[in-house]
Amino acid sequence: MHFLTPATFDASTERNMPGTELFGEEERKEVMDVLSTGVLFRYNHDAQRKGQWKAKEFEAEIARFTGAKHALAVSSGSTAVSAMLAACGVGYGDHVIVPPFTFVATIEAVLMAGAIPVFAEIDETLCLSAEGIRNAVTPKTKAVLLVHMCGAAADLDGIMAACNEKNVMLIEDTAQALGATYRGKHLGLFGKMGSFSFDFFKIATCGEGGVIITDDEQLIKSAEYLSDHGHNHEGDNRGMEQHPIMGTNFRIGEINAAIGLAQSRKLARMVAAQRAHKA
Ligand SMILES: Cc1ncc(COP(=O)(O)O)c(C=O)c1O
Repeated sequence: MHFLTPATFDASTERNMPGTELFGEEERKEVMDVLSTGVLFRYNHDAQRKGQWKAKEFEAEIARFTGAKHALAVSSGSTAVSAMLAACGVGYGDHVIVPPFTFVATIEAVLMAGAIPVFAEIDETLCLSAEGIRNAVTPKTKAVLLVHMCGAAADLDGIMAACNEKNVMLIEDTAQALGATYRGKHLGLFGKMGSFSFDFFKIATCGEGGVIITDDEQLIKSAEYLSDHGHNHEGDNRGMEQHPIMGTNFRIGEINAAIGLAQSRKLARMVAAQRAHKA
């Protein structure tokens, strides 16, 4: 494994691209912090964890990096998409416009929600086109699940205009494009919610993991409750917490979050290296 300290990093000569190739002392240190307390769970155990809250810190780092008001770490990019759909109220029988050119997880999440994926045309951005979306809207269309493919942005001006015109919500599966921006704003912040994958093959990794971002407090709370069996995480007694909604287990564990935290602190370098390679 190759590792460069920030002092020696030079984007023009950096030969690395994804986070897996920048795995180093920082990741090991964060993991050892977790192992030193033994608290692998992201919630509660306040006394034993000795101030270690890796999932919370990971979320804060991604919120800072992207400029999002809220971030929620979950178990994968796939569960992140499922949690977004559920938080946005997409469910049984709804039509969701999706690109035919994407990774299958996008479509699976729609089907798992009981909704119907409706394919629309893509354009030279390799993402859904505004015209394709307009042509695919039906009376049952609830949302457009946009995928920013291969690290590049879709035509967001056109797509947002089409969504407003047709009165459908925009949700961004940004699994492949962490760090990419459109008119200076991070992808994932244009729709109601956006999600990233941190699997082993992505821009930054935590082994397996995902992060959802949004500026909407109510939506992030819904996703948070949903990702942990409906727990509202109020107070420090898990047994006494309320369950305002039904949920499931999409939680991230502290070890994965620890790796994600170390990786997310290197994001500026990773993105600079990717840009240099592209140039
Ligand atoms: C567009 C897209 N959405 C979702 C996912 C799923 O992410 P994960 O592998 O973290 O579940 C991927 C992974 O490749 C992806 O490319």
